[in-house]
Amino acid sequence: MLAFITVRHTANGFWSMLNLKGLVRDGSREAHLLSQVDPQRLPRHIAVIMDGNGRWASQRHLPRVSGHRAGIDSVREIVEISARLGIEVLTLYAFSTENWKRPRTEVNTLMSLLKEYLQREVARLNENNIALLSMGRIEELASSVRQELDAACHRTASNTGMKLIIALNYSGRAELVDAFRDVLQSHPNLQPSSITEQLIEQHLYTRGLPDPDLLIRTSGEMRISNFLLWQIAYAEIYVTETLWPDFRREHLLEAILDFQKRERRFGAIIVNQT
Ligand code: IPE
Ligand code: IPE
Ligand code: MG
Repeated sequence: MLAFITVRHTANGFWSMLNLKGLVRDGSREAHLLSQVDPQRLPRHIAVIMDGNGRWASQRHLPRVSGHRAGIDSVREIVEISARLGIEVLTLYAFSTENWKRPRTEVNTLMSLLKEYLQREVARLNENNIALLSMGRIEELASSVRQELDAACHRTASNTGMKLIIALNYSGRAELVDAFRDVLQSHPNLQPSSITEQLIEQHLYTRGLPDPDLLIRTSGEMRISNFLLWQIAYAEIYVTETLWPDFRREHLLEAILDFQKRERRFGAIIVNQT
């Protein structure tokens, strides 16, 4: 019991030291949730399938693009609180290789919103010491999108805090294909026995980064939709009915608290259990 109180006390002190008070109001539900988060057991990498923008809009009898626009406010909140909490990597699935199948007007709006986000958010990313990175087949995006992306990545490159990775024109299978091509290009005379998990990992878009510990999907679908197929081998999966434009700080804190209750085994058995 004493140990429990000590941990809670430390957690409260820790979070107020990080000045989360600017984001989280005293006495709010967010503050209550935050006081329960154990700073020693945070996920290092959180990956998010941001789903449900269309449903959010249709519930309000609005065009789908209004849902995408509303989703940007969630992105802003989740990025900022993740950085302040001390999450090392936050990966957001923004556009899949399959999303090109959507109507052209929707795709164009998504690309315009992305450019708008990149132009507007760099200052805030810098304030929060966040380095922006992208992953996916970026070379297939329109040049205007690539230019904004390059500029935003460049302008935040020296930040040493959280890495924010935007998955764009991304699919897990395409990533594996690209990785295998890269392996063969780098090692043309490769022997089958030289193919190892470590070698493949070194050629993924996420090379050098920890695998996601926590994978969040909003809007209730129990599927992966081609996201980070290799990297989520041992991720804890959290699916919430909350639609992405409604997913805010308190929802992220709820997901982290749920994660902290999980018993991660990685195939082993728990010590002291026979
Ligand atoms: C997620 O919301 C945004 C993208 C996939 C780009 P959706 O647009 O998929 O929303 P739903 O699933 O139709 O509600
Ligand atoms: C997954 O959402 C892709 C992104 C969030 C970018 P989708 O809405 O495209 O996935 P499905 O079609 O429901 O599987
Ligand atoms: Mg969807």
